[in-house]
Amino acid sequence: MVRLAIFASGTGSNFEAIVHAEKNGGMPFTCALLVCDQPQAAVLVKADKAGVPSVVFEPKAFDDKAAFEQAIRAALEEHNIEFIALAGYMRLIGPTLLNSYEGKIVNIHPSLLPAFPGLNAVGQALQAGVKVTGVTIHYVDSGMDTGEIIAQQAVPVSDNDTEESLRKKIQAVEHTLYPETLANLLQSCEK
Ligand code: GRF
Repeated sequence: MVRLAIFASGTGSNFEAIVHAEKNGGMPFTCALLVCDQPQAAVLVKADKAGVPSVVFEPKAFDDKAAFEQAIRAALEEHNIEFIALAGYMRLIGPTLLNSYEGKIVNIHPSLLPAFPGLNAVGQALQAGVKVTGVTIHYVDSGMDTGEIIAQQAVPVSDNDTEESLRKKIQAVEHTLYPETLANLLQSCEK
């Protein structure tokens, strides 16, 4: 079993979907740690309920990003984490973590990258009037949603879609695509 850490800042519906997939069996990973940067985030309650250990690190408690990420790295080492999945983690990963987990950090983004990177990808897609958007899972590099693409799935945009309705459709796709993609990726690393 590959020991996976999930990084999240908010609601945690993807966290929940990945944990759920693990509980259903047959996954080559175990969700061994949640890393969160927001003490009030709903994902912390979900982790508690699921029995997944969590740690909270707030950047403001540290002198700089390197010190912040060194604290996270120490927690990852303590929990023997081998691979990291970002799921609604609202921060760029810096060199401290990128160098320690090279090629072992992935992210999910609610658009067909390279279209609509950054914040509010769903709103950006609606604004642009595209007929198709979707979900991308990619490796994380130092840029904003720029790493190598691993998997994508399209989601059609209807004329009457609102940000809320489109987000719902996208999230439904995310909740199956993320666990499946992690399973495919980690199958080959399983011990
Ligand atoms: C997801 O739509 C994901 O693509 C984006 O942030 C959102 C997180 O949602 N990176 P949740 O916290 O998993 O519900």
